[in-house]
Amino acid sequence: MKVCVIGTGYVGLVTGAIFSIQGHKVTCVDIDRQKIANLRQGLLPIYEPCLEEIIQTGRRSDCLDFTTNAAAAAHDAEVIFLAVGTPQDETGGATLTYLEAAAESIARIANEEALVVIKSTVPVGTNRRIEHLIENKRGCYLEVANNPEFLKEGTAIDDCLRPDRIVLGVRSDRAEDILRRLYAPLLASSGCELLVMEPESAEMTKYVANCFLAMKISFINEMANLCEGLGADIEEVRSGICTDRRIGWEFLKPGAGYGGSCFPKDVRALIRQAKKIGSDTGLLHTIDEANLRQKTVVSAKIHRHFSGGLDGKKIAVWGLAFKPGTDDIREAPAIELVDSLLKWGATVSVHDPQAIEHFRTLYGSRIQYHYDKLAALEGCDALVLMTDWPEYLAADAQQIGLHLNTPVLFDGRNCLDRSAFAQANFDYYSIGQRQIQSNPVWANSNRNLALATP
Ligand SMILES: NC(=O)c1ccc[n+]([C@@H]2O[C@H](COP(=O)([O-])OP(=O)(O)OC[C@H]3O[C@@H](n4cnc5c(N)ncnc54)[C@H](O)[C@@H]3O)[C@@H](O)[C@H]2O)c1
Repeated sequence: MKVCVIGTGYVGLVTGAIFSIQGHKVTCVDIDRQKIANLRQGLLPIYEPCLEEIIQTGRRSDCLDFTTNAAAAAHDAEVIFLAVGTPQDETGGATLTYLEAAAESIARIANEEALVVIKSTVPVGTNRRIEHLIENKRGCYLEVANNPEFLKEGTAIDDCLRPDRIVLGVRSDRAEDILRRLYAPLLASSGCELLVMEPESAEMTKYVANCFLAMKISFINEMANLCEGLGADIEEVRSGICTDRRIGWEFLKPGAGYGGSCFPKDVRALIRQAKKIGSDTGLLHTIDEANLRQKTVVSAKIHRHFSGGLDGKKIAVWGLAFKPGTDDIREAPAIELVDSLLKWGATVSVHDPQAIEHFRTLYGSRIQYHYDKLAALEGCDALVLMTDWPEYLAADAQQIGLHLNTPVLFDGRNCLDRSAFAQANFDYYSIGQRQIQSNPVWANSNRNLALATP
């Protein structure tokens, strides 16, 4: 089938690339000329594991193209996906101007058999709104379907190839049939469920899914903070609750708060939608507020540890992306942390396997950047881990201790081996776990001994 994808970001690029290796002829469109020029030369605008190989496969089989010309890409497409951003506006709601501009760019040119499909996360009722917009522009009706995307950055390819389910929001059998044909290869290879519903329910499904996952994270974070205050250990408690099959382990890992381009904005967008119908959303407000508080938990621990103040201290930060496997720093907890450290007068030295350049755009010469994680530790008074990249999990406590001025570690993801750091005489702080305090005299003499050893 001929497919056009408008918006070549995390969702549009991955979606287009996946369809192209399933035998569809895909053209991805973006208004960002540099992005399209780079993609045509094989340069990716984002980091996503395995995406490069998928794009190369699509390009080699002549099934994947990139352009800035929406009209040329859309005029003979059977399916036109709208996959542009819907960022938060000043009221907390979803901005629909990009989506409307994308719909306008294809409204007149789309052929009468085409199906327009919204993949962006959009408030309930947006399908109708875009149908009206297109109808006004072209002078006749064109059905708009909804097909929310559930991929996770960092595992997007696997999520798309092996989805838990595909949700279709359609108003007609014809639209359902088009989308069934489009997804036929994926349904055959993955065996996943296809759920067909009204567009309004499909739009709502995406928000409810994200709000529920955000709630799980905020819940376990709040319980972790309580454990700390009451003298329990959240990791022990987790093993006690997550083994209950009704609860499970997913999204119940305490940490420095959730970030990214979806959970924060989607929780707020649903709050906004509820407000419009005069509904009380105390629970949704609490999820958001708990997360905003959680993003300050690590910096508060650092401030307490250095009770004399952070002026003149140098702090290393490992992990800038909002989660491992991506270069995305939108609403990343590391931003909150670095802002606080700079405000308190600390020097900040950072490392991330993929997100350094995005941080450089944000902070310029105000912080120090390192491509080698151990080099980032030199002369530092503490290490703070903010993203649980696999390469940090394997880090050696003794080696880290040798590079730091003082063996102090803040594990903002509860992902390092506490006992190894205890043995290496670290002051080890985590989220909701009993703190391991080293013996300072022993720690320093051990460190001097290690440094003296050739
Ligand atoms: N990122 C995720 O993990 C994820 C997962 C599921 C759903 N979503 C949703 O999918 C949507 C897209 O998210 P994203 O992260 O891919 O966004 P993104 O910001 O990475 O990409 C959006 C792209 O759209 C382009 N664009 C904007 N206006 C355009 C227009 N008129 N014509 C052509 N291109 C245009 C931008 O230049 C940009 O490249 C959002 O609604 C988001 O909530 C995102």
